[in-house]
Amino acid sequence: MPPAKPVVAADPSVVVIFGASGDLTSRKLLPALYEMDHLGLLPKATRIIGVARRDKTDDEWREEMRASAAEHATNFDAAAWQSFAKRVFYHAADATVADDYAGIAQRIKAIDPTSETKGNILFFLSVAPSLYAPITRAVGTSELVVEGRRWCTLDPANRSWQRVVIEKPFGHDATSAAELNRELAQVFDETAIFRIDHYLAKDVVQSTQVLRFANTIFEPVWNHRYVDHVQISACETLGVEDRVAFYDQTGALRDMIQSHLMQVFAFIAMEPPARMSAQDIQAEKLKVVRSIRPVAAGDVTESCAFGQYGGGPECTPYVDLPGVAKGSTTETFAAIRLEVDNWRWAGTPFYFRSGKRLAEKRTEVVVQFKEPAADLFTGVPHPHGRVSGNRLVLRIAPQEGARLTFSSKVPGQGIQIRPTHMDVDFQKEFGSETVEAYGPLFIDAMRGDQTLFKHRLEVEGAWDAVMPYIDERSADARKAIASNYAPASWGPAAAEALMARDGRAWNTD
Ligand code: BG6
Repeated sequence: MPPAKPVVAADPSVVVIFGASGDLTSRKLLPALYEMDHLGLLPKATRIIGVARRDKTDDEWREEMRASAAEHATNFDAAAWQSFAKRVFYHAADATVADDYAGIAQRIKAIDPTSETKGNILFFLSVAPSLYAPITRAVGTSELVVEGRRWCTLDPANRSWQRVVIEKPFGHDATSAAELNRELAQVFDETAIFRIDHYLAKDVVQSTQVLRFANTIFEPVWNHRYVDHVQISACETLGVEDRVAFYDQTGALRDMIQSHLMQVFAFIAMEPPARMSAQDIQAEKLKVVRSIRPVAAGDVTESCAFGQYGGGPECTPYVDLPGVAKGSTTETFAAIRLEVDNWRWAGTPFYFRSGKRLAEKRTEVVVQFKEPAADLFTGVPHPHGRVSGNRLVLRIAPQEGARLTFSSKVPGQGIQIRPTHMDVDFQKEFGSETVEAYGPLFIDAMRGDQTLFKHRLEVEGAWDAVMPYIDERSADARKAIASNYAPASWGPAAAEALMARDGRAWNTD
């Protein structure tokens, strides 16, 4: 569904994209901004400047971006692009060098001579994570940030804003994430920092809030008394492809579980917020992330599973990909188990799993309810041998939807029981035109709405939750995982064993 016009419109601003030559900029960011413009959501005065080191003219960059938008944007229209592209510019500079900012500031004045954008600037760091801190420091010394930490001294009527959008991975571990947060806080107020996570822009992830808080039938059973366990999975069929340089330093646990799946977890597990406001939602997400029980040292090994894909027809084993360090122990599959120490969830485990080159693309949340307290149907034919608990599957990809499984009587004489399903296909229900997830997030940042962005403490809490597993992985690097699962499988045997130890299994519905 294309996004509805937000109640509070976006402020006009200059969008400065650092990393203009990167893949993210061409495949996602410019197509997303174009789509928002095409839908009438981008303020007409908006200017976009791509900054990178290579020399290039505006027209050369526009042409590169046009070709990419034609391929990646929904409803690409040549005339609409032409009108959008008039507000797209390129500036060659090294964003880590403080001296280069005088040139950027001059360029901003030149492309917006009457200051239609009123000094508002949205910086987007679409660069290697190692550059986040140096760029933030350099931006901080420039004349461009007039608000940031100093905002309270300015006349409120004439206030502009400068905000920064920062991509994942946010840090490499708990310590580096906290350090990066400190660096950002030197330049920007927390309300001006937009830590982006594209999973929060996914409709099904957002719809968990509606499912839980705009209905009455789910919330009363959304707790440890009724929920046996929850599974949060992001299984991909794609391999690492051309992202080896990044991935070999990162692995599945950091790349997917610490970031995206923790966000999904927070939406599923949080308490109802006081209001549906950014502040209230962030407060509840933060609370539940901080309620994750640090896994005890003695339980770590039994509560996780790691894997690395081997070779198969048309699939090079991960270790043999060009650029992967010889004998790399980076995991392309990770599964972990976490428990939450609060009144709602005590005793209900949450299982997380993510991997590359798996059998199916399957991004989902499975809420497995407990079996009925008393089985009145003992001896009645049932495919699982006994009456099973209800199961709610929220399907994020590839087909957005929901499935509720419940037991039914097979028609005919006598009683036979079989699980049956109620399915909703969101695309059939609401139409199938989707926009690039980054678009609505850009608009939210221009409106100053942080609902779908991560607070600093939440990011740090998510790192704290996975650190025991990261440490285990590093300490256990000698434990070979190379090629311990075949491409197009469901991951290493250890992942099944992790569930089997608890008498459970990953969802196959
Ligand atoms: C990215 C990860 O953040 O998310 C990738 O770096 C992963 O490794 C991707 O493939 C998955 O996103 P989606 O939207 O396809 O589930």
